Amino acid sequence: MTKLWGGRFTKETNKLVEEFTASISFDQKLALEDIEGSLAHAKMLGECGIIPLEDVKSISEGLIQIKNKIENGNMKYSVEHEDIHMNIEKQLIDLIGPAGGKLHTGRSRNDQVATDMHLYLNRKTKHIIELVNAVQEALLIQAQNNVETIIPGYTHLQRAQPVSFAHHLLAYFWMLQRDKERLQDSLKRVSWSPLGAGAMAGTPFPINRERSAELLGFDYVYPNSMDAVSDRDFIVEFLSIGSLIMTHISRLSEEMVIWSSQEFQFIELDDSFCTGSSIMPQKKNPDVPELLRAKTGRVYGNLIGLLTVLKGLPLTYNKDMQEDKEGMFDTVETLEGSLGLLGPMIETMKVNKDAMREAVNQDFSNATDIADYLVTKGVPFRDAHEIIGKIVLYALNENKFLLNLTMKEYKQFSHLFSEDIYTVLSPEHVVGARQSYGGTSPSQVSEQIKLAEKKLIQHL
Ligand code: ARG
Repeated sequence: MTKLWGGRFTKETNKLVEEFTASISFDQKLALEDIEGSLAHAKMLGECGIIPLEDVKSISEGLIQIKNKIENGNMKYSVEHEDIHMNIEKQLIDLIGPAGGKLHTGRSRNDQVATDMHLYLNRKTKHIIELVNAVQEALLIQAQNNVETIIPGYTHLQRAQPVSFAHHLLAYFWMLQRDKERLQDSLKRVSWSPLGAGAMAGTPFPINRERSAELLGFDYVYPNSMDAVSDRDFIVEFLSIGSLIMTHISRLSEEMVIWSSQEFQFIELDDSFCTGSSIMPQKKNPDVPELLRAKTGRVYGNLIGLLTVLKGLPLTYNKDMQEDKEGMFDTVETLEGSLGLLGPMIETMKVNKDAMREAVNQDFSNATDIADYLVTKGVPFRDAHEIIGKIVLYALNENKFLLNLTMKEYKQFSHLFSEDIYTVLSPEHVVGARQSYGGTSPSQVSEQIKLAEKKLIQHL
């Protein structure tokens, strides 16, 4: 089959080489962006008087026909034409004749593919921002319903201090908020037009790069044609933000797996988000959070993969750069799938308030508060810490919790204890007392919810 670049060649391409070097099996995902880029390029060429307007008309009509074919799933791609750019160009020439051959004037596949990637990531980044937002909404709804639900807070996965369950969930809200802001900010670096950079040095044709950028909705035009065709930083940045999003999703998923275990029973995932075991009839497995946790690995892999592809490349375009695509598509699709499931999974989970409350009754997570109690009575914190350490040891030996010790027992450790210690030690009091800004008291958590609501309303 004749190649669009066949002129210089005397031999057919080796079949294995053809297959090895082709990207059409995956870059067909850029088909609509490629058409969009070509429509803008053709229009600009016409406006600048570089190709006749009647050719622009037939090129545009041809491209629209191809677009319809793609959207209807009737487009046939061939490996012989290597990638999406040449497949579409070949179809165009077959469809409208020699005028189709004028489309590539003042352009190269190098600026063309870079343009497609920018358009694609621009669209997908905006979609992922929406999806992150939806997960934040789900977290916020659960938080609103659980301001006064008390759960053990952990450090080292050891019970530390009781907290409001809403407070715990909102911690993830803020992680995602930063992720969303990162995505938003990254758009500033995605919205650049490489179109018209040519192969790498620009073009002798009197093109108007601002115009094609404007037609495509880009905010800026790369001022250096060599940078324009070589830059994949915006993809690395996306993969890196995606990795961080997956880190957050994975941490939350891990908590959901733990919380839904028999040992914790803090939450129950909805049946529709779990699967059973083929052998053990009693099982209800948290497959979704487990897979979310695991999929983080491939997203990290995609980031490291691209960084590694790029690290040794001399300027400008190198075929290596074709390897920028599959990882990017995979990260986009993994994020879309993961975020899409996470929101509804959070929304439908059952919060077992009683089990949480019960857990808080049976631990020493109020120990800091008796220390603080003695501090308010004038004991230096270090001494108080020592005294309470002894009380905890005593209680452990007696098989009791702090609330179960009698006043007589307390008095053995310090005469400063009096009846009010039992109020101070109740989990509600412990949580309610933490009224410092960003603390876990219901009043602070309610303030935090207001702030979170504001973020969502302002769509920041
Ligand atoms: N399929 C190629 C890619 O994705 C398009 C650019 C090809 N340019 C070239 N000079 N071979 O990178």
